[in-house]
Amino acid sequence: MGRFDGLREEERRDPKGGMIERRLFVKERLYYEIADWWAVISPPSEYAEEAALYVEMICAWARRPVREVLELGSGGGNNAYHMKHSFAMTLVEPADGMRELSRKLNPGCIHLKGDMRSVRLGRTFDAVFVHDAVMYMTTEDDLRAALETVATHLAPGGVALVAPDATTETFSETTEHGGAEDESGRQARYLEWKLPPEPGQATYTVHYAFLLREPDGNVRVVHDLHLEGLFQRATWLRLFDEVGLAATLVSRTIEGEEYDSFVAVRSAT
Ligand SMILES: C[S@@+](CC[C@H](N)C(=O)[O-])C[C@H]1O[C@@H](n2cnc3c(N)ncnc32)[C@H](O)[C@@H]1O
Repeated sequence: MGRFDGLREEERRDPKGGMIERRLFVKERLYYEIADWWAVISPPSEYAEEAALYVEMICAWARRPVREVLELGSGGGNNAYHMKHSFAMTLVEPADGMRELSRKLNPGCIHLKGDMRSVRLGRTFDAVFVHDAVMYMTTEDDLRAALETVATHLAPGGVALVAPDATTETFSETTEHGGAEDESGRQARYLEWKLPPEPGQATYTVHYAFLLREPDGNVRVVHDLHLEGLFQRATWLRLFDEVGLAATLVSRTIEGEEYDSFVAVRSAT
């Protein structure tokens, strides 16, 4: 992975076996230090096409009318910005700065702090949606825990839609760039470099170079590193099965590119 300031290694005791586990953790600058730049780097307008597709997929698969939708890892609320016209959205997001942005963008939605691996809201929804935030599940245990959260919050006949950026089968090493500006005159440009996983590893790294330009012309450079999980389609389907959901692999096409998605309907009994 190489040297990087935001990287730390932590020891955690496994609650069952008492074993000490060493894992690498990354605190993504994008969601913490520079969260207030999120909507300049990745503006809500860029999510219209895919959000429309998620609404369509949820409505097509659900076996009950869909009114209330839970999104886990809702970030700056860019999907919710479009989806809220079709559903009443409850948005769960751990990073305070990201939740604050989403609250301003989507004042009519319910915002809650939580981790998709552990949050429990004590109620069910007609649909549970997880978008790219699921990429931060870097072990099978984490992914299973997130899917358990999905299953726990799903009403009978309700639908789960999990839409990762990539599975092992669809991953490719890519370099992309983008960015936008906001009404205050701030401008951002970024380069995103996805590196392939080491052989046998279930994680890969994404490096970002952000150029953040203030209205007065000052430009700051921020290097960020994200650690993301990569699982085979069969692993995804097995983990869904382990939490009591029979999932189907469904392809989705966004801006001409194909992605894997997983859809599961909670049995009505
Ligand atoms: C790319 S952003 C999501 C953007 C979102 N799709 C939108 O519409 O704005 C990824 C989000 O995943 C969140 N995240 C990371 N780990 C998480 C976890 N364990 N539980 C819930 N959310 C998590 C991050 O804080 C970040 O806001």
